[in-house]
Amino acid sequence: MKVGIIGSGGREHAICFSLNNSKKISKIFCFPGNAGTAKIAVNIDLDLNNFEILKKFLNKEKIDLVIIGPEKPLVDGLVDFLEKNKIKVFGPNKLCSQLEGSKIFTKKICEKFKIPTAKFGIFQNEIETKEFLKKTNYPTVIKADNLASGKGVYICHNFKEASFAVDEIFNGKFGEAKNILVEEFLDGEEMSFFIISDGNTFKTFDTAQDHKRVLEGDKGKNTGGMGCYSPSRLITNELEEKIINKIIKPTLSGLNEFHEKFKGFLYAGLMIVGNEPYLIEYNVRMGDPECQTILPKLKTDLIDIIDACCEGKLKDIKIEWLNKKSLCVVLCSKGYPDEFEKKVEIKNVKQIQNTKNDFLFHAGTKIENNKIYAIGGRVLNFVSVSDDFNIAKDNINKNLDKLNWTGGFYRKDIGYKVLK
Ligand code: AMP
Ligand code: GLY
Repeated sequence: MKVGIIGSGGREHAICFSLNNSKKISKIFCFPGNAGTAKIAVNIDLDLNNFEILKKFLNKEKIDLVIIGPEKPLVDGLVDFLEKNKIKVFGPNKLCSQLEGSKIFTKKICEKFKIPTAKFGIFQNEIETKEFLKKTNYPTVIKADNLASGKGVYICHNFKEASFAVDEIFNGKFGEAKNILVEEFLDGEEMSFFIISDGNTFKTFDTAQDHKRVLEGDKGKNTGGMGCYSPSRLITNELEEKIINKIIKPTLSGLNEFHEKFKGFLYAGLMIVGNEPYLIEYNVRMGDPECQTILPKLKTDLIDIIDACCEGKLKDIKIEWLNKKSLCVVLCSKGYPDEFEKKVEIKNVKQIQNTKNDFLFHAGTKIENNKIYAIGGRVLNFVSVSDDFNIAKDNINKNLDKLNWTGGFYRKDIGYKVLK
């Protein structure tokens, strides 16, 4: 089987790596991929905004199945386009992708189906929003409605901060803003909860805890994710049941009311407050770095699971996992999530070998004349799987020391709540 993967991050390298272990896969194409995928797949750089060009390439190469990693092509309707052109594709369609593409769409579903979430208000202009913010309690949370790569969320401690957030959003920092969301601040512990669905059946796909803030101690600006561990320390059978019954099932059956079926990964970003789950956000894809943290624990062939989803036969598949702990530390370019230098050479990458339990997944990297360069904010993912989070962390540290890259930085406290 020939597979195409859309995306260029650590998540896509991890998917590519996992598929490359399958005997059923003959060739992998990554659009556009990175220096890591270049070793095991063919990287193709074409304009992903031009679906026609992509279609021509997929047909020319007789690619059997397309897997979409990031949210943008999903929200832009790439699944609908490929399906219309009879190309097999794994991911949710444009309407279902609104679960991530519009926070207000999701809030309305929560309201209609009584899904636990932070109390919220939707406002249409600056004056109205600020009037409300003068009277509200702090901290309060302000969110842009549209896709903002994790950056359109402001936790505000007073009216001045809130006012600044409202101005930024309505001035178009995240694209045209017709609406703004103001939310109650939930004080709890976060958890990433994943399911995979074929539209008829869904199965859980493990849990993780992401560290989204750039600085140690979970402080500083929000990022795409600085590191992660799986499983979440909070998950129990009782909590899983609550998440499924109060959040996942009503969402999926809610989509049925639009005559839509959710096919793909669904990632619920949750806040757990006193053992009760609240939905903070949905993402219609695997998380990054959650994906690279979780996939090394998967025992079942990933392509069997994905193909079964595309065929509507997920119920026939048993998804099996190693009973292990996995930890991931993300190495970033100095300056991230603000400005950083592009195209900085990383010299010692070849010193780091993937083993049965230790993995290096590339993200913002590029290979040119046999040299590897950092070209993105998040650059490399160091993952280790073990019976014990402490051992995983030690193994990651050994590899980070081997790399010894002066162009980057990483959080030294990833997993601190599960480490001794
Ligand atoms: P989001 O992009 O919606 O996941 O938000 C980014 C981060 O902001 C989340 O991971 C949380 O840490 C935080 N956050 C978002 N909404 C809330 C909320 N209602 N209460 C507390 N923290 C929140
Ligand atoms: N790690 C957070 C995300 O993928 O959105």
